[in-house]
Amino acid sequence: MRRFRRTPALRGLVRETRLHSEQLVAGLFVRAGKGVREPIASLPGVSRLSPDEAVAEAQRLREAGVGGVILFGIPDRKDETGTEAWNEEAALQDAVRRLKRAVPQLALMTDVCLDEYTSHGHCGVVKDGDVDNDATLPLLARVAVSHARAGADVVAPSDMMDGRVAAIRRELDREGFSGVAVLAYAAKAASAYYGPFREAADSAPKFGDRRGYQMDGANRREALREITLDVDEGADAVMVKPALAYLDVIREARDRFDLPIAAYNVSGEYAMVKAAAANGWIDERRIVLETLTSIVRAGADFVLTYHAADAAAWIRAGGLDR
Ligand code: PBG
Repeated sequence: MRRFRRTPALRGLVRETRLHSEQLVAGLFVRAGKGVREPIASLPGVSRLSPDEAVAEAQRLREAGVGGVILFGIPDRKDETGTEAWNEEAALQDAVRRLKRAVPQLALMTDVCLDEYTSHGHCGVVKDGDVDNDATLPLLARVAVSHARAGADVVAPSDMMDGRVAAIRRELDREGFSGVAVLAYAAKAASAYYGPFREAADSAPKFGDRRGYQMDGANRREALREITLDVDEGADAVMVKPALAYLDVIREARDRFDLPIAAYNVSGEYAMVKAAAANGWIDERRIVLETLTSIVRAGADFVLTYHAADAAAWIRAGGLDR
């Protein structure tokens, strides 16, 4: 076995999984203002950006060879039903319009959810202390349409309501956006790995938790049922989230389904690497490339990750075997 491991050239001939920068999608947090770059303590290297700064960041990402961006909105005001989420004049929609014009080479994706926009922090309409599934669907569809109207290529519902992919698909088509794709956060676990994101987006639920709608991470068969449902409802691509603790789900989904599969290397996964690297306990470059390679090896076609810019630069500079 060792003969083809002797030199970088020999290893390069037989490498089975190759990471490309175009497979990486960077997460961007967008808030109102101009010239704003507000660092996020829990996500070193990531900032809340005003629309103009989001454009500057996206230009850098494109130059680095990154394939796309996914945008999360950080609103100035929240209310019971998250009305700011479908406000056409809000920072998120503004950023989408600008990005579409300035960096059409990037795949432009938006996260469709209400948790950043609701005063209670849940992903839908709360009735009698619980999230009302069916009352939430038309609101999610409205958010998706507002993103499509602004110029999103892909809308990505992350709420985990039942039936939301069908509701969004129907409304997109009715409004003339039949070309906009739906990337469903299909198998999304109720995970502790979202902690840093919730700090970044100020979106932690004010009461209870998300276990009533996000999946129990212990369930592999149920994850496949979730994916099947989203495919049947018209999803163009499906996502497994988080990535690293769910590589078996990614692999099983890859073996079972022929549509594109995404994986989300989430905020907690990123924060752990950054913290250990800051302490000098790990080699950040090698850890990040090894991790992203493992996610692609498990079967993901593309990966959402806050490491996108760094990873793209490292790939360009020779990748893992340098
Ligand atoms: C919901 C959403 C979340 C993430 C992406 N979309 C938070 C949640 O479900 O609580 C988490 C992403 C990450 O941790 O990086 N809008």
